[in-house]
Amino acid sequence: MDADYLTIENIKKVVTSDIKSAEEAELKGNNDKAVVYINSIMGNLKLLAKVDRKDSERYLDLAEKWNKKKESLVVAKTTYQNKKTSTKHDSGLIGKMEGEFKSRIEALISKSDVKWDEIGGLEEEKTIIKEAVFFALASPSKDVKVPKLRNILLFGPPGTGKTTIAKAISTNINATFFNVTISELLSRYVGDSERIVSALYEVARGHSPSVVFLDEIESLVKKRDDGNKSTGSILQQFLGQLDGFGTGDEFVMTIAATNVPWELDEAILSRFEKKIFIGLPEVTTRARILEINTEMKGYHVKADLMEIARVTGNFSGRDLFYVCSEAIRNMLRRSNRDLMQKVDSLMLNNSNGMKYTVTDLLQEDFEYALARVKPVSDQKSLEEYQKWKGKFANN
Ligand SMILES: Nc1ncnc2c1ncn2[C@@H]1O[C@H](COP(=O)(O)OP(=O)(O)O)[C@@H](O)[C@H]1O
Ligand SMILES: [Mg+2]
Repeated sequence: MDADYLTIENIKKVVTSDIKSAEEAELKGNNDKAVVYINSIMGNLKLLAKVDRKDSERYLDLAEKWNKKKESLVVAKTTYQNKKTSTKHDSGLIGKMEGEFKSRIEALISKSDVKWDEIGGLEEEKTIIKEAVFFALASPSKDVKVPKLRNILLFGPPGTGKTTIAKAISTNINATFFNVTISELLSRYVGDSERIVSALYEVARGHSPSVVFLDEIESLVKKRDDGNKSTGSILQQFLGQLDGFGTGDEFVMTIAATNVPWELDEAILSRFEKKIFIGLPEVTTRARILEINTEMKGYHVKADLMEIARVTGNFSGRDLFYVCSEAIRNMLRRSNRDLMQKVDSLMLNNSNGMKYTVTDLLQEDFEYALARVKPVSDQKSLEEYQKWKGKFANN
């Protein structure tokens, strides 16, 4: 048993060292050498799958990922060679990029219909962001160089409106908006991820002015469960893009968001000139968020929203949204009792065109909701944010 264990450990060591060598070779642009190491990695992973049965599937999975990586390196090499022979700055890589790849990136372009006034509170924060975007996109009246804010980091507890703010930006600007969730990017395009990062920014520059929104940016730095360190080189790619070296007149602004700022390392933090804290709503903002999710959606409220705001300390915007949803469901149940009794006999999959009654939202609906919805953030995590805010935030 012992000997077996050692063997597995040894193979793992070889794999680890090969991964390192493959990454180094790739960083140096020596794809051929990287492929040699990847072949060895794949061989050893398949061996591990045989000897370490309980994890067999995971090894085979990893081997498959490395296979994809290998394929991408071979394609990357071809693209690179094409690029070298193409004239500088024709629509460059974009023009030459395989259709599939380009459409993947263009699928990230989005527009939303979230309006600024649907975001309660955060007045100062909204102003900083709107200002930054405006001055980045508009032209000065005199021929002066205005320093542009290119990278902004939004951080704070979950459900406080970070993603919503990014959506509001995309509604209002005359720029191309790329909505990127890092973890999705990483999990969907394993092997391709590095290429997709540079391609993303290349396409963004091609569509200039652009805003790239990077949600869950901490997933760039976090070590992945499978021990695959390729996120390291993806991080390097992003850092390079955030530096914006070698960009011409094109303008690409990056807005990143995270709930766990302390997981970010210095390299990435230093790239964000502005780090804006998006905190939990104060009492008047809570009242406003309750209003946004009820009255602004056409409900008539016969309850004291201010009083509800008072008792919902530590609730995030999302928690409050849940309170309103729960209250609305209670009102519907209350107002359609006879209908509910008949639910069993109703053809549920034939409910199209059936009507139900909507009445006023009452205090009791909110009481029902408050008994069921609990705030996500606790005192301890809030203190963490305050500490981090004190150290790094610009607002
Ligand atoms: N300040 C706010 N005003 C109005 N609604 C909010 C606010 N903050 C959060 N919400 C609600 O919570 C939901 C989640 O917010 P989101 O922006 O995704 O949070 P985050 O990205 O900070 O985790 C939104 O869809 C919205 O309904
Ligand atoms: Mg979010």
